[in-house]
Parts: sequence; C-alpha cells; structure tokens
Amino acid sequence: MKENHFQLNRALKWVKEAQTLLILTGAGISTDSGIPDFRGPHGLYENSAQKFGLPYPEAIFELPYFKKNPNPFYHFASELMRNEYNPSLFHQLLAELQPQKQRILIVTQNIDGLHQKAGSNEVIPCHGDMTSASCSSCSTPYPIEAFNRLASKAEVPLCETCGAPVKPDVVFFGENLPESFYELYLNPPEVDLFIAAGTSLTVHPAAGFAAGMAEKCQSIRLNLQSTPYDSCFDICLNMQVEEFSKQVSRTGVKV
Ligand code: OAD
Repeated sequence: MKENHFQLNRALKWVKEAQTLLILTGAGISTDSGIPDFRGPHGLYENSAQKFGLPYPEAIFELPYFKKNPNPFYHFASELMRNEYNPSLFHQLLAELQPQKQRILIVTQNIDGLHQKAGSNEVIPCHGDMTSASCSSCSTPYPIEAFNRLASKAEVPLCETCGAPVKPDVVFFGENLPESFYELYLNPPEVDLFIAAGTSLTVHPAAGFAAGMAEKCQSIRLNLQSTPYDSCFDICLNMQVEEFSKQVSRTGVKV
C-alpha cells in the first residue's frame, strides 16, 4: 500500500515535470465513456462469441471471417454507432495538458475518435478509425455517408465494383497498420515521459512499441490489470485512469 502511494506520487511528479510526452492508449481509457473494452472484466470478448454467434471471440476482427460473414461485425459496429459517446476524464486530461506542455503525442489503439473529440491535436489512430471505408476485397473507397447510414442499421454495405462486403478502415488482425505508426516505430521521438494507459498490451505491434518506448525514457504503465510488459516500465500503477486523472488535477493541472 505504502509502495503504491510512493509510486503514484512519483508518477504525478513526472507528469507535472515532463515537457514532452508520448502516450499509448487502449480501450480501458474509454470504458468510463460507456464503451466496453475487449479483455477487461465484462469486456467484449467475454461474451462476443455467444452474442454474435462467432466460432471464437477475436473472429469478429479477422478479415477471412469478415469476408465470409460480416454480420457479427456490423451488429457490433451498429451498437457503437447508434450511441453518442463523450470523452472520459483521461481524454480530457490529455487535451487540457496540451497547452501546458511542449508536446503531447498520442498513439491510440481505439477507433472511437474520443481523443480528437476532447481536443487533442496530435493523435495517431494506429488501429485506424471509422472516418472512411473501403472494399474488403478490392479496396475501392466507399462513400462514408452511405456507409454510416447502412452500418448504423447493421446493414452490410457492398462494394459497387466487385460486390464484396465493405469494411470501415479500421485495422483487423493480420492487416498492416497506418504508415504513420510504422514511421514512429522506426524513428521514435525523444520524449521526457512515456505512458501506456488502459491497454492490456497483448496486441502487436503496439505492445512491442510500448515495450521499446518504456525502456528508452521514464515510463509509466497505468492499467487496472498487469500486462506482459510490466518489467519494461519504471512505474506500474494498477488503478483506474479516471482516478489517476483526478490525482493529476490535484497537482495543479485543471481538468
Ligand atoms: P484490452 O481490452 O485488451 O485492454 C484494456 C485494459 O484496460 C484491460 O487490461 C482492462 O483491465 C483495463 N481497463 C479497463 N477499464 C479501465 C479503467 N477505467 N482504468 C484503467 N484500466 C482500465 O484493450 P486494448 O489493449 O486496447 O484491436 O486492446 C488492443 C486491441 O485488441 C484493440 O485495439 C483491438 C483488440 O482486439 C483490433 O481490433 C485490431
């Protein structure tokens, strides 16, 4: 307990002092906004196989499965699209910190757009996002307005060129990540502080990127549960990101 308190105070001091920060975020920072994570308690993968009739939970984000049966993905996507979500305290914290720091670069595995909605201006959505869509087979771009109209009703948009199911430009398992992520991976910036927040660090290459960054500079892993790369980090905090945000705001940062 004493050790936890000491580590938290050390982390708060680092956040206050750092001028350049790189933050990797995952689904755990959006649970407080009402979007379930994947592998946390009551996460999507806990019941997705049963709920969507999948052979195994991750099939929902696998291209070969999607091409055969895109319906489970569209049921999931329609639930997300029908609701309006707002940034959590942690999204807000990063946006509020921005004018007080030299640089806050965010790499997010989330496709929910909540960092941008909160006002953060340097965001790399390394697993893509829902702002564009294209054919899962021939890659022909699909008009986003028509995509949104159909997907929000769980109807599968079909490619006008080849008839295959259209997919939003989010990264499925086995697909390449955006070029901007690989550039960062190969040439990571010098920063004062690296934080991995709300991610189980189980999916590569984001997890490997986090491990490399953690060893390069001061680093904090902020998550409810431990991760396979905890030993790479200087500080591991097992706590809610919302509680951490409140603690940071008590150090003088307005949230
Ligand atoms: P996960 O669901 O794997 O991990 C989220 C982590 O956040 C879990 O360890 C939770 O315990 C933790 N968590 C939940 N709520 C929290 C809170 N309020 N405060 C602190 N921690 C909290 O999500 P990701 O690591 O983002 O990829 O998953 C990575 C990728 O796996 C996703 O981008 C997605 C998924 O399959 C693709 O779809 C390609």
